[in-house]
Formats: sequence, structure tokens, C-alpha cells
Amino acid sequence: MTITPEVAAAIQQFRLPDKLGFGAVNAPVMFSAEWQDGKWGPGQLLPYGPIPVLPGARALQYGELVFEGLKAYRVGQSRPNLFRADANCRRMQQSASRLSMAPVPDELFFGALEAVVRACETFIPSQSGQSLYLRPFVFGTESGYLLRNSTTFRFMVIANPVEAYASGTPSVAIERHDVRAAVGGVGAAKTAANYAASLRGSTAAVARGHAVALWLDAASHRYVQELSGMNFFAVIDGELHTPALDSAILPGVTRDSVITLARHLGYTVHERQMDIDELLTQIGSGRCSETFACGTAAIIMPISALADSDNLHKTRQINVVASRLREALLAIQERRAPDPFNWVRVIP
Ligand code: COI
Repeated sequence: MTITPEVAAAIQQFRLPDKLGFGAVNAPVMFSAEWQDGKWGPGQLLPYGPIPVLPGARALQYGELVFEGLKAYRVGQSRPNLFRADANCRRMQQSASRLSMAPVPDELFFGALEAVVRACETFIPSQSGQSLYLRPFVFGTESGYLLRNSTTFRFMVIANPVEAYASGTPSVAIERHDVRAAVGGVGAAKTAANYAASLRGSTAAVARGHAVALWLDAASHRYVQELSGMNFFAVIDGELHTPALDSAILPGVTRDSVITLARHLGYTVHERQMDIDELLTQIGSGRCSETFACGTAAIIMPISALADSDNLHKTRQINVVASRLREALLAIQERRAPDPFNWVRVIP
């Protein structure tokens, strides 16, 4: 893909700061392609910066937007690699299908990712746990209030050199009132609406000193769904339990990787309905020894306690199984260990 003088200048001027955070530092280039007259244009690299969007665009008025999150790694390697990018590509197509938006074909998705990663290659941070976070997204650009899909779309990829999203062993707050997603809705699609619905609960959780909110099902407010931006796991009697997927839970790529890896390491993994009150009782009796969350951004985040209003339910151990799985997962992602599942794709 052509590197214009503007893009080359943006890359040349960029300096990787010591402190990265998560999303605080923007890579100097981005990819953009447009859908018009029923087809995608070839797309191009641009310097990172503001884009023109009509105020009446469907994305702004009705949230017609789907996105993905994945990472490029370059820890002790000369060539960067992606991790399960095919799964992200498929999920973005499924999210677009749920919103009846134009799907991004595989070649365009991978071409865009590879162009951005190659352009950013020299400043992919290289310590374990660090990476270049890639955020592909598609949004409806047509202006108007009619409740039908936009006929024009824009596909973009922006990128951020990052550390892990969360650190330490935080507590999470059980959200008993607000609902993130209902069965039959858009909870399984990676679309802005789900994140918007979770903002009040998450902001309140953070204000009370917790990392995020833990969401329950919409119908009965009883079954665990997921955390804001992460899937949930509990270790009960030494076995792993995670909520079974339904159309209200995001099918996390990291969730799937953790299940596969855990089984490979000898754990029994159950995907089932998880009643929150039963779980709290099991934490109290010690049968549930540990809980953790996982996601692309968070990798694997150990949880120290579940907060139910002001009652803190602390597990008897923290970060024992979680750290084992985190290390095993990161070692594959960072190419420090063999990749028996063929998950890693080196950028040529
Ligand atoms: C990701 O893990 O990629 C997400 O999109 C979650 C977000 C809260 C950063």
C-alpha cells in the first residue's frame, strides 16, 4: 500500500512515549476505505487525525457502528505477528450482519491490518504484555433520520501502542439494576450500543472503587452474562465455569482461547448458566476459589472480590489459575511458546 509523503512524515515524527496506558497514545497512521454504490473502494493509509463526518450520519444518530479489537505483538521478534485475526474478521462480519451493514471482506480486513502494522512496525512496544492494539471499525456515513441502513459506509483501522487494559487484582461490582443486553438484541455483536448501555453501570462501579460492572441477564437479573468489555470465569471445585454464550453475550476471542488452552492444560471447562446468588454462596463456602475476566484488551484480569452493593465477596485465592492461564496465553501470543492451535500469523 502506498505510503504518501504525509504518512511518511507522520511516522517519522512519532516518538513512542515511556508511559503507554491503554488507548492514550495514538499510532500516527490509520487506514480508511469507503463503501459506495454497493462496493468497497481500495482504501488508503492516512496520517492519524480528525475525519470529516456529517452531523446527520447514521453512525452518530443511530449508532450504526461495529468494531473489533485485536493486537499485533513484537516481543523479542523481528517480524510482528497477529493473534487469531481470522476470528476477529469473522466476528466483525457477524456484527455487521446483525446490524445489516456492509460486511468487510477478508482481503480488505487483512490488507488494512497488515498495512497499519507494517507502517507502525518500529514502534510496536516490545515488553511482555505490551502490544499494538488494533481497532478496526465500520460505520454508516449517510445523513438522514429514516430508520433504515446507511447506503454509504466507512471502514477504518486505528492503532495504539498499549500496555494491558487493567492491572493489579481489582474487585468488580455486580450490577443488579441496569441491563447491558437482552436475548434477541445486539449483545453478541461488537457494536457501540452495548458499550453505551454499560457506561452508567461501569462509571458507577469505578466511582465506588471497582474496576468494572458485572452484568446479569435482562429477563431475571439472575444469571451472569459478562463484565463490561470482558468475559467472566470462575474456578469452582478446581474446574472452570463460564456463562454459556447466548445472543446477549459477546463471543470473546480471548474467551474461546482461554477455554481451548485451559482444556489443553488439563482443566475441565463448563459453559453453562451461572446463577449469581449460587456463585456468591460458593465463594462464601470456599468452593469457588477464584474468579477472573478475560478480553483482548485485558488479556486475563484476576478479580479479588465481587461487590454486591456494599458487600464484598472475596475469593479465598486470587490470581492462581488466572496467572497460569495468562502466562500460557501470552507465551503463545508473543511467540515465546509453541502454537499448537495455529493461532499466530506472522506479518511477512
Ligand atoms: C477489547 O478487549 O478489545 C475491547 O474492545 C474491550 C474494550 C473495553 C477495550
